[in-house]
Amino acid sequence: MGVSKQILITGGAGFIGSHVIRQFVFNYPEYQIINFDKLTYAGNLENLLDLESLPNYTFFKGDITSTKDLATVFSKYNIDNVIHLAAESHVDRSIENPNVFVETNVTGTVNILNQCLKSWSNDIAEHVFYHISTDEVYGSLGNTGLFKETTNYDPKSPYSASKASSDHFVRAYANTYKLPVKISNCSNNYGPNQFPEKLIPLCINNIKNNKSLPIYGAGLNIRDWLYVEDHAKAIDTIFHTGKIGETYNVGGLNEWTNIDLVKKLCQVMDNALGQQNGTSEGLITYVEDRKGHDLRYAIDATKLSNELNWKPAETFETGILKTVDWYLRNDAWLNNVVSGEYVKYYAEKYS
Ligand code: NAD
Ligand code: TYD
Repeated sequence: MGVSKQILITGGAGFIGSHVIRQFVFNYPEYQIINFDKLTYAGNLENLLDLESLPNYTFFKGDITSTKDLATVFSKYNIDNVIHLAAESHVDRSIENPNVFVETNVTGTVNILNQCLKSWSNDIAEHVFYHISTDEVYGSLGNTGLFKETTNYDPKSPYSASKASSDHFVRAYANTYKLPVKISNCSNNYGPNQFPEKLIPLCINNIKNNKSLPIYGAGLNIRDWLYVEDHAKAIDTIFHTGKIGETYNVGGLNEWTNIDLVKKLCQVMDNALGQQNGTSEGLITYVEDRKGHDLRYAIDATKLSNELNWKPAETFETGILKTVDWYLRNDAWLNNVVSGEYVKYYAEKYS
C-alpha cells in the first residue's frame, strides 16, 4: 500500500502517546507513523512492542529540546503533519523541579514549531501542527461550572503554566506565521500504560504490594476522568475532522473526589484479587497536601460532541475494570517500570 501521509507523533512512547500511536497505526495502514521520543523515565517502548515489525510504524529516538534531532528527523522523512504529545507531565515533579518543564514543554514546543516553519515554508497551508494539551491550563474551578474552550487561562502549577505557555506559542505561530494548527485540552486520563506515579496506577501498584495509599489533604479535590482510548479516539477525530485554528475540549463528564475514586478503586481491586471487601481501603493514608493543590477540574466537551460527533465509548465502570485487569495481567510491565529496568535496557539499546 502506498504511503498517503507521514505523521510525526512526539511522545509516542508515553502513556497517552502509545495509545495514539496504536490508534493511528492500526486504523490507517496508508499512513507512515513516526514516533519521536526521548525515552525519559516516562517513555517506555514496551508499550509498543507488538508494533515494531509493522511496516507503517517507525521509532526515532530524539529530544525535542535538540534542534539537531528535530532537523534530522525532518530531513529523514517528509513529515506532512505533527501530533505533539511529548512533555513532562507530572504536577508533583513540576513542583520539585520546574526548569525541566520549561525546557521540554515550552522550549521543546517552540523548537518543533520553528522546524515546521522551516520544513513547510513552500506549502505551509498543506500541513497541520496538532498540539495536545491539558484542562489544567484553565486553572481551578470552585464547586460549580465547567471549563469551556472560551474559559480564560489561569494556570496555577509549574506544569500547567508550562503547558499554557506552549498553547500560547502554538496560537502565536498560527497568527504570526500562518501555521495551520489545532489544539485540544483534555481532562485527567486513566488506563493501561500509565506510569505509576499518577494517582490510579500508583494505588493499583500499592494495593498489589500491600503499601499505603497516600491521599493528599482531605481527599476532596475533584478530577474529571477519561479512559485513555477515548482520548486517543478524540485525537483521531480532531486530527481528521477538526477545523484548522480551533481548540477542542475533551472530557467525559466523570467527576470524582479523590477519596471516592480511591475507595471505588479499592472495591474493584478487592474483587479482582479475591480479597474481602474493605481490605484495600484499610491502606488509605491521609498525607500532607500538594502545594497549591487545584481544587477541581471539569470539562465541557459539548463543542467536540456537537460539531465532530465524538462521545466516549467507556463509562467509568467499564474503564476502571479494564484498567485494573490490564495492570494485574501485566505484572512484568509494572515491575520493570518500578525497578527502572526498562530505562536501563533502552538506554543501552539506543546509546
Ligand atoms: P507521559 O509523561 O506518560 O509521556 C510523555 C512522553 O514524552 C514520554 O514518552 C517521554 O519520553 C516523552 N518526552 C518527554 N520529554 C521529551 C523530550 N524532551 N523529547 C522527546 N520526548 C520527550 O505523558 P502523558 O500523560 O502521556 O501526556 C502526554 C501529553 O498529553 C502531554 O503533553 C500532557 O501534557 C497531555 N495531557 C495529559 C493528560 C493526562 O491525564 N496524563 C491529560 C491531558 C493532557
Ligand atoms: P495526578 O494523577 O498526579 O494528576 P493531576 O495532578 O494532573 O490531576 O493526581 C490526581 C489527583 O490525585 C490530584 O488531585 C492529586 C491527587 N493525588 C493524591 O491524593 N495522592 C497521590 O499520591 C497522587 C499522585 C495524587
